[in-house]
Amino acid sequence: MDKSFVLRGNICYSKNMRELHTVPRGYLVCENGRSAGVFRELPGAFKHLPLEDFGERIIIPGLIDLHIHAPQFSYRGLGMDLELLNWLDTYTFPEEAKYKNIEYARRAYADFVEDVKKGPNTRAVVFATVHVLATELLMDMLEASGLVTMVGKVNMDRNASPDLQEESAEASARATSEWLADIAGKYKNTYPIITPRFIPSCTDELMRALKTIQAEHGLPIQSHLSENKNEIEWVKELCPGSASYGDAYDRFGLFGGSAKTIMAHCVWSDEDESDLIEERGVFVAHCPQSNTNICSGIAPIRRYIEKGLRVGLGSDVAGGSDTSLFKIMRSAIEVSKLRWRLVDRCDTPLTVGEAFFLGTMGGGEFFGKAGSFDEGYEFDAVVLDDTNLKSPLELSLKDRVARIVMYADDRNIDAKFVRGTKIL
Ligand code: GUN
Ligand code: FE
Repeated sequence: MDKSFVLRGNICYSKNMRELHTVPRGYLVCENGRSAGVFRELPGAFKHLPLEDFGERIIIPGLIDLHIHAPQFSYRGLGMDLELLNWLDTYTFPEEAKYKNIEYARRAYADFVEDVKKGPNTRAVVFATVHVLATELLMDMLEASGLVTMVGKVNMDRNASPDLQEESAEASARATSEWLADIAGKYKNTYPIITPRFIPSCTDELMRALKTIQAEHGLPIQSHLSENKNEIEWVKELCPGSASYGDAYDRFGLFGGSAKTIMAHCVWSDEDESDLIEERGVFVAHCPQSNTNICSGIAPIRRYIEKGLRVGLGSDVAGGSDTSLFKIMRSAIEVSKLRWRLVDRCDTPLTVGEAFFLGTMGGGEFFGKAGSFDEGYEFDAVVLDDTNLKSPLELSLKDRVARIVMYADDRNIDAKFVRGTKIL
């Protein structure tokens, strides 16, 4: 199909955090890969375009995963009796070391890409490993899938096992520059992102070198922030001069501002750190399933939203077990209720509409105009068939979308479009 066409069906999308908009049996117009809007009646100007009628099925924007580790897909569900730092040493680092072997990487990454492709997500911001070849292979495979992704070769020059850790700051920076040179101009839908793993993995010398590379290429940044209490204590010991964990990145210019940045977790960010997140326009990737699995805590997302922070959702596989952002929306709602009941009565629970916003438009803003069907947004759409979710009730379109968020799975996905191309 050309990149200009019309889809007909039951359309649902966020216009903002508060407004989940529904148009039953409406028309969604794609013009050159972007939305030209949603209409109750098809305007004459679009009547010449090819039309695909999805009948009673539901059409929503593609879901957006702001934080996932591709090499961790292989060991999802393992080590869930451990907390972050022990889990990294026992499961994560030994597994990631295997991606030095390109044949292992090929097998493992094929499983990962296949799983994300058949799910409801159309975009993701991805950690690879330290290995240049395996990272390039992952990017080739993601490009072939049709998904839109940002992928980071991970940097780590301290505090990991010798078989994973890079030799020196200089070696890590050099590998990063080689990686960027290799992939320059190679892809349409796959972009590089600078990826210092987290403060405990990166020396000051490496952070300075990454800032130089980031500024030279104008690249975005991703990392982890204030996920676990022992981790935060460790960062205090490593960086006695920093006012906060966030400040430990900010000192190097690796915390938002002119460099678009995602920080995953922010479970324990206090008032000062969340002020800095707000000032620098850093995106928070809320990863509720991971935060539950490895007992990190419950991030105060209501507080962040009221403060005006930019928030999206992350699966954080393998901290999280599911790549589907529907499951992460569900988890965000669940943990928000526990937080309100057990921790802070000011943090009112997230509604379905709010979780839907976070998993589409909230994360989508990191990619520019993605995550909505308002005119001008990039055309990512997922078509859902909910006929197997049986009920004798007469359901409104909003009710049907609520059921999808609360208990749909990949079997409900009927078609998927990314940037105006049908990939499923
Ligand atoms: N912090 C540093 N590395 C990781 C990782 O791989 N997963 C999670 N959840 N947190 C981290
Ligand atoms: Fe993570």
